[in-house]
Amino acid sequence: MALPNINPTETNAWKQLEKHFETVKGLQMKELFAQDKKRAEKYTINWEDFYLDFSKNRITDETLRYLLQLADEVKLKEAIQSQFSGEIINQTEGRAVLHTALRAPKKSDFKVDGVNVMPEVYAVKEKIEAFTNEVVNGERKGFTGKAFTDIVNIGIGGSDLGPAMVVDSLQFYKNHLTTHFVSNVDGDHVNEVIKKLNPETTLFVVVSKTFTTQETLSNANTLKTWFLKTANEAAIAKHFVAVSTNIDSVKNFGIDENNVFPMWDWVGGRFSLWSAVGLTISLAVGYTNFDNLLKGANKMDTHFKNEDFNSNIPVILALLSIWYNNFFNAESEAIIPYSQYLNQFATYLQQGIMESNGKSVDRNGNPINYQTGTIIWGEPGTNSQHAFFQLIHQGTKLIPADFIGFGKSLHGNQDHQDKLMSNFLAQTEALLNGKTEAEVVAERTEKNIVPFKIFKGNKPTNTLFIEKLTPESLGKLIAMYEHKIFVQGIVWNIFSYDQFGVELGKQLAGKILQEFNNDIVNNHDSSTQNLLNHYKKMS
Ligand code: F6P
Repeated sequence: MALPNINPTETNAWKQLEKHFETVKGLQMKELFAQDKKRAEKYTINWEDFYLDFSKNRITDETLRYLLQLADEVKLKEAIQSQFSGEIINQTEGRAVLHTALRAPKKSDFKVDGVNVMPEVYAVKEKIEAFTNEVVNGERKGFTGKAFTDIVNIGIGGSDLGPAMVVDSLQFYKNHLTTHFVSNVDGDHVNEVIKKLNPETTLFVVVSKTFTTQETLSNANTLKTWFLKTANEAAIAKHFVAVSTNIDSVKNFGIDENNVFPMWDWVGGRFSLWSAVGLTISLAVGYTNFDNLLKGANKMDTHFKNEDFNSNIPVILALLSIWYNNFFNAESEAIIPYSQYLNQFATYLQQGIMESNGKSVDRNGNPINYQTGTIIWGEPGTNSQHAFFQLIHQGTKLIPADFIGFGKSLHGNQDHQDKLMSNFLAQTEALLNGKTEAEVVAERTEKNIVPFKIFKGNKPTNTLFIEKLTPESLGKLIAMYEHKIFVQGIVWNIFSYDQFGVELGKQLAGKILQEFNNDIVNNHDSSTQNLLNHYKKMS
């Protein structure tokens, strides 16, 4: 069964929301709080170790009612069902979308073309576990008989960002192995990593779903050539492993078939860290922690699939985001984790969210006349407070923000933790209430400075409190955003699981690369032509 195909702007709910927007757009949240003492309680979802307070949003009960009606009218429930039952919901590529199967219990039944994929999924998981244990325990050795000390993950996009973000986020749980990530085709990236490596004790994990990606193959070849300066060809089997769907190309590269960790075309690149793409995660933090990450994601899957929409965390977050994107015309959203461990989280989500929902054609193939994908950005607090918060507080743009904080610090330094969390709470309070002219005047501010010190407030935020950063809670958090992406794609009536937009640049780059060696090239617009000639002169 295909996904429902409904133009959201033609639903009753959308029309109601348009009218309703006119009556609520000027409402001040602080007045809504004053009128309803139970507002925070009413707009909070407490699930497992997650506590989501979405009361600091420019919504009323009526707004929520229409947003939930919108979800019903676009048949979100049916769409969720289609996704989890392995239907070909990635219709433009003719594929199912089943990253949820990767983190499901063994006894589950996820069918692709009528065949349960769980036995295959678990066979690969067992291979990841055995391999991880051998490397971590030092039983698996390099070509000179020494145990591995360093892991190099070679991949890009979904084959890099997910593992890199999770390894960084779970640093606290890391073992003795040092992990490196090489992604950019910029040779300076790989060469800086090479400086830190000893070929005798380095394991290379080449991750590419297609095994055709220019960046990954270039970096893998450069590392192989560097490795072969000290080792012989036979040593490649000990030091290079691959994660891919394209087994033939992996073998052609010279990697032993036994060293291939398969994945499947029903796992999208940006949703693949749960598969063998997460091998580097497993190596870095151990298989048990990797498995707990998956278990956390599975709990969020169950919540998303079964919970009523009015208390369903990903659904509520997605609908609020639509409210700002499509009615307030907010263009971007900030993600501000109050944890330095989540330093790479917004970067990771940029691919998930913007590659998935950066689409301007609907599921009928028609151009869209409403806004889709939000622009995502962010950095951890408190650093970001001293960087871009000025614009969120006093700029002209409306930037809804997700604040993510943890109740406990991992190293247990309560002094730092209290300071961190006081900032976490203070920022959303400031964004809500702002500062009035009267308050500024009361501070004995010089008269001519008063306008500059007024904060309008009324800036929307979601606050997500999580008890502690663990592999399991991180798994829940990532899965929460994955489902938010799905809900938004369904409401916007777009296909979230292809990414044709990244292809054109790749094709042109291939053409230009060949032209660097041609004497006379004259087939570009004059700007590109001049730049190309200039580069040839410089290089
Ligand atoms: O950037 C496009 C893209 O196809 C991403 O979706 C994907 O994660 C990345 O390239 C890497 O692809 P691969 O894993 O096939 O090397």
